[in-house]
Parts: sequence; structure tokens; C-alpha cells
Amino acid sequence: MSDAKFARSQYKEVWNSVSKSEDDAKMAVSGYVDETLYQSTGEGTRTMLKNHVGLKADDVVLEIGCGVGRSGVYVAPVCKEWIGVDVSENMLAHTRKRLGQVTNFRTVASNGYDLAGIDSAAVDLVYCTVVFMHLDEWERYNYIKEGFRVLRPGGRMIVDNVDLTSDAGWAFFENHCKIPPAERPPNVSKTSTPDELRTYFKRAGYENLQQRQWDLWVVTWGYKPK
Ligand SMILES: C[S@@+](CC[C@H](N)C(=O)[O-])C[C@H]1O[C@@H](n2cnc3c(N)ncnc32)[C@H](O)[C@@H]1O
Repeated sequence: MSDAKFARSQYKEVWNSVSKSEDDAKMAVSGYVDETLYQSTGEGTRTMLKNHVGLKADDVVLEIGCGVGRSGVYVAPVCKEWIGVDVSENMLAHTRKRLGQVTNFRTVASNGYDLAGIDSAAVDLVYCTVVFMHLDEWERYNYIKEGFRVLRPGGRMIVDNVDLTSDAGWAFFENHCKIPPAERPPNVSKTSTPDELRTYFKRAGYENLQQRQWDLWVVTWGYKPK
């Protein structure tokens, strides 16, 4: 949880404030620092990508909100280039340390609202995991539109969020209802419905939209027309 003196939309200030040390950053990203768990969940994200949208050796892959490189360290070795984008320069420094031995990656600091600095039609796969709950709806949609811009024709984008319509997601929401309004941290998690995410993808121009709901999560992906 971050310093409540910031507004939610001050993404850079909020996330830099919780990521000065690597352990603080790991706690903010995942709620744990255990490296064994970092390995299993990082490999788990790579498996999720392989199963839903595929991962090819010649893919340029971009992660929005890459944190400390939890998944990047496992995705980079199986693609052509991995680009870690994050609003927090501190997070990106931790990512560079984690991926130290890896040569086919770069990091890009975003302003928190778009993918300025990334060329149009230059990426094959954009993914964003465990980030949308910290964004306002306008930024969620804008990153999906920006994903569309940076994807090559035929490229794919995949995002997840906590699913308000599931029992686990509803329990998560009710837990957050207990936080008094004046004490809500700026980066407090907010859920999505499957319809919300599907609407963004559709309006941004993606085709062949697909969704998977399980337990806490709704995952949505789509393809930029060829
Ligand atoms: C919960 S962490 C998840 C990190 C990583 N995706 C993972 O799964 O390990 C959320 C990340 O999103 C980043 N973030 C928050 N708001 C952002 C924004 N508006 N634009 C880009 N990154 C943002 C934070 O700095 C943080 O690294």
C-alpha cells in the first residue's frame, strides 16, 4: 500500500514511493518477497501466455506495468525481445537487476497513461497482468488502445483483472468495502467485469475476442486485424 497523500492518478509518484528497495517493491507488486514463489508465479504467467495467446521465438513482447520483472525474466529467454514498460523508474531498476544476465530486453519508463516512446506496429504481443486493478477506467482503455497502436497487424494483446462477477471477486470487493473512504490508498485494487474489458477491446478495434474466467480472475485477449 502506498502513501495516501497522492491522488490515484499520480501513478508515478504513488508507485515510485513504494518501490525504493527491492523488498518494498516486491511487497507492493505481490505481497510477498519469497523468491521460490517469484519463480513459480513468474513461470506461471509465461505458461498462461503460451496457453492463451502463444509465445514464439521471433516475437517482440511488451509488458505494461512489468514491476520487478517477475515474469519478464522467464518470458525474455523464449522470445526475440522483451520490453518492460512501467510508470515507476524504481521498479524498472529492479527489473534490470533481475534480468541482469539476459541480453534481449529493454526497459521503458511510461508517463502512466500511454506507450509514448514505443514505435507503432513494432510489437507482436502486449500483455498486462495484475495492473488493471490499480488503474482508473480511462487508463485501462487507453493502454488497450495504445497496445493496438504498437502491435503489428495480426499481433495480440492480453490483460487480466479481478472479476467482480465471480464469487471470489465479489469477496475481494466486499473486503475492500470495509476500508473507510478517507483511508483508501490511492492504488487500492478495483475490479472489472468481463463486459467492461470486452467493451474496451471491441471499441479499440480488436477482433477474435476471447475471455476466460476462473476463480478471482477474468482474462481478456484479442487480435489486431491483419
Ligand atoms: C501489482 S504490480 C504488478 C507487476 C507485474 N505486472 C507482475 O505481475 O509482477 C503493478 C505494477 O504496475 C505499475 N503501474 C501502476 N500504474 C501504472 C501505470 N499507470 N502505467 C504503467 N505502469 C503502472 C506499478 O509500478 C507496478 O510495477
